[in-house]
Amino acid sequence: MTSERPFSQACENNKGPILTVLKTHCETPGTLLEIGAGTGQHAAWLSAHLPHLVWQPSDVAENLPGVRLWLSDPESRALDPLTLDVGREWPSARFDYLFTANTFHIMSAELVERCIEEGCKHLTEAGRFLIYGPFNVGGQFTSESNQAFDQWLKEIDPLRGIRDREWIEAAFARHGRTLLAEHDLPANNKVLVFG
Ligand SMILES: C[S@@+](CC[C@H](N)C(=O)[O-])C[C@H]1O[C@@H](n2cnc3c(N)ncnc32)[C@H](O)[C@@H]1O
Repeated sequence: MTSERPFSQACENNKGPILTVLKTHCETPGTLLEIGAGTGQHAAWLSAHLPHLVWQPSDVAENLPGVRLWLSDPESRALDPLTLDVGREWPSARFDYLFTANTFHIMSAELVERCIEEGCKHLTEAGRFLIYGPFNVGGQFTSESNQAFDQWLKEIDPLRGIRDREWIEAAFARHGRTLLAEHDLPANNKVLVFG
């Protein structure tokens, strides 16, 4: 294994705005499961700035060594990452918060539906599910750059693509959760908060 940490400039750019939203919606101490932790940068930095949360990062197995390199930062308060492929078996625990960033346009629509279904089952009754990323509104891209990004995603894999906010809302509604808040963040991204 290389000891060089994986790095995402986007994470460095968006972590501050994401923290502001998490501070608003995750005020009560509790447990948080992060799905698709990626490099581990969000887990390391956000957990340090939200000490009242027990931050449990997760991702598919191949990403965990890189996540662990970030979690070795002395400021990180995140737990050792869990292997979680949302299409497979989930941990048995329930969480007060679920958080995922930039995953719904990477997973197939079928996997996103599964993530929402299992996520809702693994959320406490008063829990919150926060999703960061680009979303369409009313079936329309919210910017030309998002439209170009969607085209690029589909060239890599036709099952990828920016999801419609209303389609996500309908999937949550099937599991008894509604959209509580929507925050516009820089670079044409949003945080959708369900509960
Ligand atoms: C674009 S990266 C985003 C990573 C990180 N959250 C960020 O914001 O930089 C997409 C992430 O989704 C994860 N992912 C894709 N399919 C997944 C699945 N079936 N189960 C769990 N995570 C998945 C990938 O492993 C990757 O970490």
